[in-house]
Amino acid sequence: MRKKVIAGNWKMNMLPNEAISMITELTPMVKDTENEVILCVPYTDLFYALLTAQDTNIKIGAQNMHFEEKGAYTGEVSGKMLKSIGVEYVIIGHSERRQYFAETDETVNKKIKAAFANELKPIVCVGESLEQKEAGKTAEVITNQTKLALEGLTNEQVQNTIIAYEPIWAIGTGKTATSEDANNSIICIRNKIAEIYGNEVAQNVIIQYGGSVKSSNAKELFETSDIDGGLIGGASLKAEEFAKIVNYNK
Ligand code: 13P
Repeated sequence: MRKKVIAGNWKMNMLPNEAISMITELTPMVKDTENEVILCVPYTDLFYALLTAQDTNIKIGAQNMHFEEKGAYTGEVSGKMLKSIGVEYVIIGHSERRQYFAETDETVNKKIKAAFANELKPIVCVGESLEQKEAGKTAEVITNQTKLALEGLTNEQVQNTIIAYEPIWAIGTGKTATSEDANNSIICIRNKIAEIYGNEVAQNVIIQYGGSVKSSNAKELFETSDIDGGLIGGASLKAEEFAKIVNYNK
């Protein structure tokens, strides 16, 4: 049985004092869940978030990293730097980074490899645009992104990669994919992984759904056969709402 993994992506929100308050409030609300709870926070919140979440079941992640370990890359942060302060997870290839910051399938692949080299667990985002969806290309786009992201990884690394299927048209728009459509897309991704890495590996990979998940739709989405939790944007900024999503099965 795969675990449900519920991750918040704060994006470019929350100052350190807000991060500390939110995590302090969230802690008692999620302490009894069997689901995995992760918060991916801005770089400037990482240290505060790690200290506040110490000795709790809340894990902390970053939202991006560079693939090189160090060097003349002004403004970048490496996997080694993240690991050195105790970060466990890192989002890679979010559609906002692909769209606004020239992230490509190639840099995504390099970053995933660098994450593993530094013992960080990558949460890798894939998803189609509205145009691609309307052209009937969803399956092709998301399976291709998955294949390129995972290229050259060992079976063990693939099993330890979390994939987040986030249709771009559903992000921050209030439009959620139907649970059936989201589940079918995730089955497509899983089948692609099975084709390349074998069924056993594919059955172990956590594949989340992301895009306007909130407490009112989390249960329906997460109770499908193949959606293994969610990557939550806006609804992860408030402790009470995020806790309801984490506790969707209570
Ligand atoms: P929203 O939940 O705000 O739609 O954002 C989804 C997302 O992009 C998470 O990474």
